[in-house]
Amino acid sequence: MSDQTSLDPDDWDDFRQRAHAALDAAISHMQRRADLPVWQQTPEDIRAGLRIPLPRTPGDPGALARQIETEFLPHDVGNTHPRFFGWVHGSGTPEGIIPEIFAAAMNANLGGRDHVANEVEKQVIRWCVEMFSFPETAGGLVVSGTSMATLIALKSARDKASGASGMEAARKLVGYASEQAHGCIGKTFDILGLGRESLRKVPCDTDFRMQPKALAEMIRQDRDAGLAPFCIIGTAGSVNVGAVDPLDILARLAKSQGLWFHVDGAFGATAILSPTLAPRLRGIEQADSIAFDFHKWLHVNYDAGFVLMRDAQDQLRAFSDRPEYLASADRGLAAGNPWFCEYGPELSRSFRALKVWYQLARFGTDRLGRAIERNVSQAQYLGKLIAPNDKLELMAPVGLNIVCFRFNPGGLADDRLDRLNAEIVIMLQESGIAAPSTTRLHGRLAIRVNLTNHRTRKKDLDILVDQVLTLGARLT
Ligand SMILES: Cc1ncc(COP(=O)(O)O)c(C=O)c1O
Repeated sequence: MSDQTSLDPDDWDDFRQRAHAALDAAISHMQRRADLPVWQQTPEDIRAGLRIPLPRTPGDPGALARQIETEFLPHDVGNTHPRFFGWVHGSGTPEGIIPEIFAAAMNANLGGRDHVANEVEKQVIRWCVEMFSFPETAGGLVVSGTSMATLIALKSARDKASGASGMEAARKLVGYASEQAHGCIGKTFDILGLGRESLRKVPCDTDFRMQPKALAEMIRQDRDAGLAPFCIIGTAGSVNVGAVDPLDILARLAKSQGLWFHVDGAFGATAILSPTLAPRLRGIEQADSIAFDFHKWLHVNYDAGFVLMRDAQDQLRAFSDRPEYLASADRGLAAGNPWFCEYGPELSRSFRALKVWYQLARFGTDRLGRAIERNVSQAQYLGKLIAPNDKLELMAPVGLNIVCFRFNPGGLADDRLDRLNAEIVIMLQESGIAAPSTTRLHGRLAIRVNLTNHRTRKKDLDILVDQVLTLGARLT
């Protein structure tokens, strides 16, 4: 007679078999992912099959596994396919399945307390400090992604600037980022109560890099107007074109003006692992905080990001709150102070650190850096395919790993070209052949190819260009 209130298996052998079968199916999916279309729309019957009332009784585990295997796996977003080029998605690794299994088995909560999972996260933090040559005072936190990392970094910056006077002083605070900065920064200003308009958008040069002279002038004008500049946000790898702001100049300016220097390095910061690319990030080591992702260019399976802080005390000051039910102790389970919940807004925290720790230990940073380098040389290769072709037009210089271009056979108005190129991208996605995305540069629509994919090979880029030309010719 089974125990109707326990959620553990009645029959562990049966569970073991089902779990092994699930693992096999997951591995097969990853092994054969390139044979499937990059993307295929989820059919209506699968969507309809999901719309059932809240289940009140147990489902059949075999049927549930079949539903996942046959209906969900083939309709993923596609970022584990070699020709997924859209947005900035990392491509993950089969190895990433292993720590996820163990993390699920441990079911650890890393908000605090004294247990080994926290020691693993502390090691990840130490490795990140080392990666960016930060000082001993540094600290950080594993988070969901760069958006959360930005929130933590800029809350620490805001609190440091406004001190004890809180929101009253915060009303005058203004910060600066390039006009190409990611939307998560404006969102952070909003969440922090500073208002989106307190984030000044600094103009860029022709390479889409922030212009330091314009920045200095904006700071001067804001001070003259009685406002209180508090931070400069540099971008290492902009979302549109992969531009890297002149971080060393921004760092110097921030220092001379007494401002916090934050770097949004969502994907670009991890180029520090390549000895040939690291010089392009010069100045990042002087930042007060860096936000970046493990799930983008380091291919940790979603999701995992990081906030790195030059002085961990700034972060602790911004987030530490230990009410009586979270009281600390010198010994026992409530030891291990300070707790990670004192470094960010979340109290319940999953064991993300395990998959990060595993990825870094399993592959080593040299190999991860080489995968990054290959993407950068693939971007150069793609640029060289596009530049001499009289039906294709590069829309931005190829800086790091992003190539923006359009099909332009000549003689068509810009509006028509926008619609044409948008249609080419949709048709590429719907055909399942390749999945770039789009963006707008100087008001014009560009096909945007982002290379944060360790499975991509040059032949995939040849296929992409060939298909763009074929579709473009068919549509004109
Ligand atoms: C430059 C940049 N900053 C921030 C983000 C936001 O990162 P996340 O999606 O991990 O929150 C992205 C995402 O693509 C990005 O490219």
